[in-house]
Amino acid sequence: MGLFSLTQEIAMDLGTANTLIIYNDKIVVDEPSIVAVDQHTNKPIAIGEQARKMHGKTHQNIRTIRPLRDGVIADFTAAEQMIRGMIKKIKPKSMFSPSLRMVICIPSGSTNVEIRAVKDSAEHAGGRDVYLIYEPMAAALGIGLDVEAPEGHMVVDIGGGTSEIAVISLGGIVCNESINIAGDVFTEDIQTYMRQQHNIKIGDRTAEDIKIAVGSAVSELDNPPEDYEVVGHSIIDSRPHKVAVSYQEIAYALDKSLVKVDAAIMKVLEKTPPELYGDIVKKGIWLAGGGALIRGLDKRLSEKTKIHFHVAEEPLSAVARGTGTALKNIDRFSFLIK
Ligand SMILES: Nc1ncnc2c1ncn2[C@@H]1O[C@H](COP(=O)(O)OP(=O)(O)OP(=O)(O)O)[C@@H](O)[C@H]1O
Ligand SMILES: [Mg+2]
Repeated sequence: MGLFSLTQEIAMDLGTANTLIIYNDKIVVDEPSIVAVDQHTNKPIAIGEQARKMHGKTHQNIRTIRPLRDGVIADFTAAEQMIRGMIKKIKPKSMFSPSLRMVICIPSGSTNVEIRAVKDSAEHAGGRDVYLIYEPMAAALGIGLDVEAPEGHMVVDIGGGTSEIAVISLGGIVCNESINIAGDVFTEDIQTYMRQQHNIKIGDRTAEDIKIAVGSAVSELDNPPEDYEVVGHSIIDSRPHKVAVSYQEIAYALDKSLVKVDAAIMKVLEKTPPELYGDIVKKGIWLAGGGALIRGLDKRLSEKTKIHFHVAEEPLSAVARGTGTALKNIDRFSFLIK
């Protein structure tokens, strides 16, 4: 076999907020899902972190695009440019192989058209042999659950665009819900709150910084973070206005969205067959995705459901790691979609 016929293999978590690539069992790319393009030529000028730095600071010649919305591709051209650009970031730069095999994940609520869009984008970006996996299945694999066992497992993956809740047993998804309430909506909730309560305008980067610094799902935390100081643009007099934000305020701001996440989880539990429900009660429910890092979310959900919630180790990379596990078991896992 000549060198050029060697198949290169990668796994990709193409997320609304972040794209991760696994190559040779390692995370080699972990960057925000953003592309900056030249408005005149439509050519990409920056991808990932570099494009994120430009986000919200562009002029008429540059546009930043987040190709995914609510977990699915919203801008096909930008998605393809982004996938291509992310693959190029892999070091060592040996991805010129004519036969690139890829496993890439998709939200469990995807329509056939949305599934096709991911597959086409990956193929246009150089993938020759593209397999797809549902995100909650990838999350479960990444957490290390035995998804093929005759046992119920439940995972809740709260990303940037979607929250996916699924019960898995015998290598398949038994029941699931996918809602468009996730990190992006939490960020908007914080912006709205700051405008209504403190009369200041803040951009989404600042709102996200607040979410990370003092984000909370409950109004009482055992280890509370210190208040976070932001300087916003006053909507009353356009002057800079300094505000110290507490975690209790953010718990209040996020509550109306978190109630929808609670409800979606309850809906999946209602649909879960009794034997699997018993397994889940015994073992608990796993939280993954960036939303799993919201302080007190596990506590809130445990109180709500009366079932124990565990936060996955490194929740932001669980789906990518699981997609990597799928890549290594392509011939064995019947749940992969070709
Ligand atoms: N410490 C944190 N606290 C709260 N939210 C966080 C934290 N860290 C990251 N996030 C949020 O998690 C989200 C990104 O999570 P993740 O990377 O799992 O999403 P994604 O996979 O890109 O999106 P999706 O799966 O919906 O397509 C962002 O909205 C980000 O603001
Ligand atoms: Mg995700």
